[in-house]
Amino acid sequence: MSTNKTVIALPKGRILEEALPMLTHAGIEPEDSFFDSKDRKLHFGCKNRDDVELIRVRSFDVATYVAFGAADLGIAGRDVILEFDYPGLYAPIDLGIGPCRMVVAALDEHADEDITAWSHIRVATKYPEIAKRYFASRGIQAECIKLSGAMELAPVLGLCKRIVDLVSSGDTLRANGLKEIEHIADISAHLVVNRIAFKTKNEAMTDFITKFREAVDAPPSA
Ligand code: PRP
Repeated sequence: MSTNKTVIALPKGRILEEALPMLTHAGIEPEDSFFDSKDRKLHFGCKNRDDVELIRVRSFDVATYVAFGAADLGIAGRDVILEFDYPGLYAPIDLGIGPCRMVVAALDEHADEDITAWSHIRVATKYPEIAKRYFASRGIQAECIKLSGAMELAPVLGLCKRIVDLVSSGDTLRANGLKEIEHIADISAHLVVNRIAFKTKNEAMTDFITKFREAVDAPPSA
């Protein structure tokens, strides 16, 4: 990939839709095929400039592409940033998109159990590192079973006593007889920048950071 270009990693899905006005504010107008979900291309140009390339990847992978310098900057959830804890990643701006929370949840009937004396707990999660760190901070060793989705089923079917997952409305927990019992972190999407690119392409990176910050601070109608 050419080094005089800025490569931006963007997540697929809802976060991307909410980020579009911010991209416009930052002077990034993706080519039309970027918006065509049937297009199998993953690598795009911009309509208005040729110094920016866009890649469209899974939200979990944005942080990895940016941390290893395959992309210079991107938009990643704080859940993913916390999970990987990459030293090469700088997250200068909370974009306020996709607000939700990372929680510990359990079946209603297990929600009042006092686990403080436990030395070990089995946890189903998409976020094993966050879960391990959280329970370790409470002196409990978490045995994490990694799942990719539908975490709420795991306690219902007896796979574990706790799950660590994202909660927004709480509907999914309620619908499966689960209760939120501990709050781990507030989550939203952040602008992430590769630390080396921040040094070697400082002018371009600083310009993008300034524009994204302006977009966050702009009134909603602007
Ligand atoms: C997330 C999360 C919960 C759900 C919470 O899953 O893992 O399952 O949303 O939202 P709620 O509190 O508003 O019900 P997502 O829809 O991203 O799908 P996933 O199961 O594939 O992770």
